[in-house]
Amino acid sequence: MIRFTDYYQNEVILSFQDHPFSSSPMHVWIICQYNNQWLLTNHRDRGFEFPGGKVEKGETPLEAAKREVFEETGGIIQRIEYLGQYKVLGKEKTIIKNIYVADIKEIKKKKNYYETKGPVLFDRLPKDIQHDSRFSFIMKDGVLLYSLKKIEERNDIF
Ligand code: GTP
Repeated sequence: MIRFTDYYQNEVILSFQDHPFSSSPMHVWIICQYNNQWLLTNHRDRGFEFPGGKVEKGETPLEAAKREVFEETGGIIQRIEYLGQYKVLGKEKTIIKNIYVADIKEIKKKKNYYETKGPVLFDRLPKDIQHDSRFSFIMKDGVLLYSLKKIEERNDIF
């Protein structure tokens, strides 16, 4: 377990074990790659972030992950796998989120990207995301840094 605080000073606990906090988390976040680029979405309020959101009623977290990627980027997934899970102890509530990594085979153009302005591709992520106001707060804590490190260590993923 790795502990740190997020952009808003909430406590975060991150683990790369198999579903350590919940077997049915209510939130998902998907680190996407397309053609050797990172695929993010541009959230209307929060800015650039990997796609994600809430698991809907009757959905599994994996189904939610696929839906969120398509809704927010138009991305069609070739391969997706579970990477880890984290818990944010917020002031009002605690959330548990699954982290997935996905390989995107195609990006469909759409009319509507829900709460986002659609897909954004990066050859590489900037070094100083923490101080880059274009990026969402969810990209500004240890979840992104440790996840990218884990992906690099496990060179079987992409
Ligand atoms: P609803 O009102 O039910 O739509 O939910 P909400 O707007 O309160 O947001 P949500 O349930 O998605 O998140 C609850 C709290 O957790 C909010 O304060 C969010 O900012 C925070 N949160 C959600 N996702 C993340 C995340 O990936 N990282 C961090 N650090 N905080 C998150």
